Amino acid sequence: MSRKNKTLGEYIIENQASFKYTSGELSRLINSIRLAAKVVNHEVNKAGLVDIIGTAGDTNIQGEDQQKLDVYANDKFIQTLTNRNIVCGIASEEEDDFISINSQDENNQNKYVVLIDPLDGSSNIDVNVSVGTIFSIYRRITPVGTPVKIEDFLQKGSEQVAAGYIVYGTSTMLVYTTGHGVNGFTLNPAIGTFYLSHPNMEFPKNGRIYSVNEGNYTHFPQGVKNYIKYCQMEEEDRPYTSRYIGSLVSDFHRNMIKGGVYIYPKSSKNSTGKLRLLYECNPMAFLAEQAQGKASDGFTRILDIKPNELHQRVPFFCGSKNMVEKAEEFMRKNP
Ligand code: AHG
Ligand code: MN
Ligand code: MN
Repeated sequence: MSRKNKTLGEYIIENQASFKYTSGELSRLINSIRLAAKVVNHEVNKAGLVDIIGTAGDTNIQGEDQQKLDVYANDKFIQTLTNRNIVCGIASEEEDDFISINSQDENNQNKYVVLIDPLDGSSNIDVNVSVGTIFSIYRRITPVGTPVKIEDFLQKGSEQVAAGYIVYGTSTMLVYTTGHGVNGFTLNPAIGTFYLSHPNMEFPKNGRIYSVNEGNYTHFPQGVKNYIKYCQMEEEDRPYTSRYIGSLVSDFHRNMIKGGVYIYPKSSKNSTGKLRLLYECNPMAFLAEQAQGKASDGFTRILDIKPNELHQRVPFFCGSKNMVEKAEEFMRKNP
């Protein structure tokens, strides 16, 4: 029975039976993410009020400055998942290596590992523009009750059992999939409850928005340059509109609702692109496919790429199916 004001908590319980493995562990895990999301949301909303903006002074493994809220969000998600003893391992964009949880405890029967980008679009924080959190969940492949190993994290994206994001925007939303479509929940901040506001989200097959950082244009592969020119051409339903927030979560969210394509290609300065396969591209690709969209590196399906390291980067083409396919056509001609 569908009711208009269904909460995320109710939805999780009702849909537990549709998971492949129904021990309730995955439901508890998603509940923990829901809790951490609320805590981080509270802090993100306060960012303009308290002295939490600015760089913490640390540099992460990828040589980028960490902002204070990155550190805060990272700590909160790790703390919540660790305290509730709900996963056996966590990998985060902000950590050099993966974290093994209760690895010495033979009674730890937890089966899932979580990979997170705790704060995505962090350069937007101090200018009051939307940021997000991205998460990706796999079943471990090593035996339960033993310490997790790197191979538990380096699984193909097609092995994900759940993935989602939180967008801290004009309203805060949690959007996720467990492989049965994509659903979006909006937070009512007055009472701290997420409500099912966007059931069965789908990318329109075609769209009129392209999202790419055109400041890097001269360094792009010829195929991407040609595709951008195609988007700008005065023909049929074109020119398309250019929209780029610089926060993957927000750009993806808008494109899923309105129809569009997001591209972060490789460039002559950066041969692998910028986005991380495990923390950003795989979860967004799983969501995209579950929402009838498409995600590739310009040639290959993202979910089919076998990762070889935690912080691996890949070019990313993602969004409305026909738009991604058109961009791929340009890439094949001029890679
Ligand atoms: P993060 O804040 O987690 O480092 O991710 C930022 C990512 C992504 O969200 C965004 O789309 C992209 O980097 C923006 O990069 P450019 O500034 O190079 O366009
Ligand atoms: Mn990110
Ligand atoms: Mn980040």
